[in-house]
Amino acid sequence: MKQIIVQFGGTGDLAQKKLYPAYQSLLSKGYEFHIIALGRRYSDKASFQKEMVNPEARELLEKLDYVQYDMAEPESTVRIVERIEELIDCDASIELIYYIALQPNLYEDAIHQIQTIDSQFTCTLSKKIVVEKPFGFDAESAARYNKILSLAFKDEEIYRIDHYLGKEFMQNLLIMRFHNDIIRSIWNNRTIESIQIVFDETHGVDQRLGFYEKIGVVRDTIQNHILQIVTYLTMSEPASFTSEDIAIEKVKVLRSIKPINEFRLGRYESIGSTRGHAVETPTYAALKLYVNTFYYAGIPIYIRTGKMQARAVSQIYVKFKNMTRSVVNDDSIHENSVIINIHPELTIDISMNLKEPNTSWKSRPVKFRFNHADTFGVNTPEAYEQIIEKILKSDKSLFPSIREIYESWRIVEPMLQEGQEIEIYPARSLPRFASRMIEKDGIIWYTDSAAAKET
Ligand code: BG6
Repeated sequence: MKQIIVQFGGTGDLAQKKLYPAYQSLLSKGYEFHIIALGRRYSDKASFQKEMVNPEARELLEKLDYVQYDMAEPESTVRIVERIEELIDCDASIELIYYIALQPNLYEDAIHQIQTIDSQFTCTLSKKIVVEKPFGFDAESAARYNKILSLAFKDEEIYRIDHYLGKEFMQNLLIMRFHNDIIRSIWNNRTIESIQIVFDETHGVDQRLGFYEKIGVVRDTIQNHILQIVTYLTMSEPASFTSEDIAIEKVKVLRSIKPINEFRLGRYESIGSTRGHAVETPTYAALKLYVNTFYYAGIPIYIRTGKMQARAVSQIYVKFKNMTRSVVNDDSIHENSVIINIHPELTIDISMNLKEPNTSWKSRPVKFRFNHADTFGVNTPEAYEQIIEKILKSDKSLFPSIREIYESWRIVEPMLQEGQEIEIYPARSLPRFASRMIEKDGIIWYTDSAAAKET
């Protein structure tokens, strides 16, 4: 079957940084597909390719076409149809993959235009539609988009993207939890005391200001990536690793989470509008939530994430209860923990207490480390490559279901209210509320204490 990807947002940041490299990698592995990139910025294919694509991406340059397209001009759909028709032969089996990588406020128009494009073909084509996150602005708009989408596409033809599901560490969370008896038996609220999830980025909003300004941190990463991580950490075992069975368990987790009421938002201090940094929307958030299912109720989950931080850290810290300290009456005994480091390096540490040499019955925490690159090499495909490969193969196992998306909007809804207090934080520093929120419960961010020990 011949597959053609029609790339809305073909001159955008996401296309340039993530999608085109992923297409190149898949093409170089032997996948066969064409891409028609749509965008306003360049008048012809040569200038588009020159600016947007790595000149060494030989296979991609061969298969990547460009149509100048302005959504405000309905006649530009004719150009798209003409270009597709040049590529197809009605006797062969053809699949069109419409990929929307635009700001959510343009989705409705894009979907209407896709319907127009679709209605102009004389031959029978099969089709799919791929929609980037965030899916909507809130629960209400997500439902509206879904309604429009389902007028033109069946649910099995709709792929709603959260690229975190294509990440190796995410998939590994499920394998770690469900393929290990020792982990299964300790992964619940009888043994886990608390969980911390930290996703700090050093970069700012940069060239994505136009997109980010309408979105903010809650819609950008919390409603999707972060809540997906929470589901992978706390879902019960799915009947199988198919998309349907995984979705059933994820929805149970999400439905048990109440709308978040403990949170604070921050925004980094603008460092000059000339450098594109006059951000008006929240760029940082700290929050606490509970998963109210039988096996996880009562475990506080502390989350912090955002931009313009001093260190880029992505880490999950699972802290276990420390009964031993009282049993042996020694306050110096450390708790056990599982530390999943995602960035800068993918590692999993299990921290245990073992005897310190030359002491009399004194222990010290030591880490047993799995290092992904050392064990499996560094050539693991990027998340987007895994996601696009699944789309080409019609495998929906790495895509959130619409019910998950609705539940996630319900959970973050209080964080989206207008008129909230937003703390301004200096670039490269943690907003004060992030530490206060966790210290109030008598704990500290593991990532900061670990960094302090290293320096
Ligand atoms: C994207 C967000 O979805 O995820 C970005 O829009 C964020 O703001 C990015 O930086 C993080 O993804 P990754 O793959 O770099 O961890």
